[in-house]
Amino acid sequence: MLEMLVVIKIGGALIAKNFENVIQDIRNIYSNYSEKYSLVLIHGGGPQINETLKKMNKEPKYFQTPSGFTTRYTDQEAIEAAIMSLGGINNKRLVEALQKCNINAFGFSGIDGIVIEAERKDKILVLINGKRIMKRGEYSGKVIKVSTPIIDFLLQNKYLPIIGSLAKSKEGEIVNVDGDRAASFIAQALKADILISLTDVKGIYRDFNDKNTIIKTINTVQLEGLLDNLEGGMKKKAFAALEALKLGVKKVIIYSGLTETPIFDALENNLGTVITNE
Ligand SMILES: Nc1ncnc2c1ncn2[C@@H]1O[C@H](COP(=O)(O)OP(=O)(O)OP(=O)(O)O)[C@@H](O)[C@H]1O
Ligand SMILES: [Mg+2]
Repeated sequence: MLEMLVVIKIGGALIAKNFENVIQDIRNIYSNYSEKYSLVLIHGGGPQINETLKKMNKEPKYFQTPSGFTTRYTDQEAIEAAIMSLGGINNKRLVEALQKCNINAFGFSGIDGIVIEAERKDKILVLINGKRIMKRGEYSGKVIKVSTPIIDFLLQNKYLPIIGSLAKSKEGEIVNVDGDRAASFIAQALKADILISLTDVKGIYRDFNDKNTIIKTINTVQLEGLLDNLEGGMKKKAFAALEALKLGVKKVIIYSGLTETPIFDALENNLGTVITNE
C-alpha cells in the first residue's frame, strides 16, 4: 500500500546549478521506499528562459507589481523562450537523467492533454518609475484547474510524471504559469500529502542577509505576517505555499536541492522550512 503522495517542485534556479543530488535521491527513494512514497515532479525554468532569450538576442523583462512582487513580462518572445525551456530543455534533461537511473520518467508540459488550465492575464499592471502602467501582450496565466487522469494513469503504470509549468488558456493559447503555484494546484488536485519545493537555498530566511535566520517551522498565520519582508522568488514561493495549505495540502517544505539527500531529508527528517496550518 502506498502511504504518501509527494509532489516535488524543482526550481529553475536549482536546475541551473546542479540537479544531480535530486536525481540520485529519487533513485534511492525508488529503490528503497517505493512502497512508502509515490512521487510527481513539476519544474520551473526562470534562468533557462532568460538564457534562451539571450540566445535570441533579447533581454528578459522584469517589473515590480503594485503589490510588491517581481514579475516577468512574458511577451511574444518570452513565451517562445518559455516553450523551449519548460517544454524542451529542462523537461527532457530531467527525463534523461532519471532514465539513466532506470526510472521511467515521462515528461510533458501542462498544455499536453490539458493537464493544467489557466486564465491568461493578457495585460499586467506594473510600476515604472512609481507610475502604474498597463502592459499588454502578456502570455502568462493564473492556474485555475488541474486534470488528474493522465497523472494517475502514469503513476499506476510506474512512470514518474515530470510536468513543465506551461498551461493552456481558456482561449487555447500556451501560457507560462508560475511553477510554485502550479505545484500547489497539482498537489491539491492529486490530494497529495506533502509538497516539497526544492530550490537553491535551504529554506526561508527571516533576513536573507543573515544566514542564522533560517526558519525551521512556521504556520500559515505567521508566514502571512512575514510575506512583506520577503523578496523575489522566495516571496512568490511563500505565497504559493500558503495557497497550497489553504487548498488542503497538509504540509509544504522548502529546501535546497543542492544538499546530499534533499527529498529524503525533507520527508524523513523534516529538514528545510516546514510550513503547516497549525
Ligand atoms: N528571505 C529569503 N529567504 C530565502 N531565499 C530568498 C529570500 N529572499 C529572496 N530569496 C531568493 O529566492 C530565491 C529562490 O526563488 P527562485 O524563484 O529564484 O527559485 P526557484 O523557484 O527555485 O526557481 P524558478 O522560479 O525558476 O522555478 C533564492 O535563490 C534567493 O535568492
Ligand atoms: Mg521561483
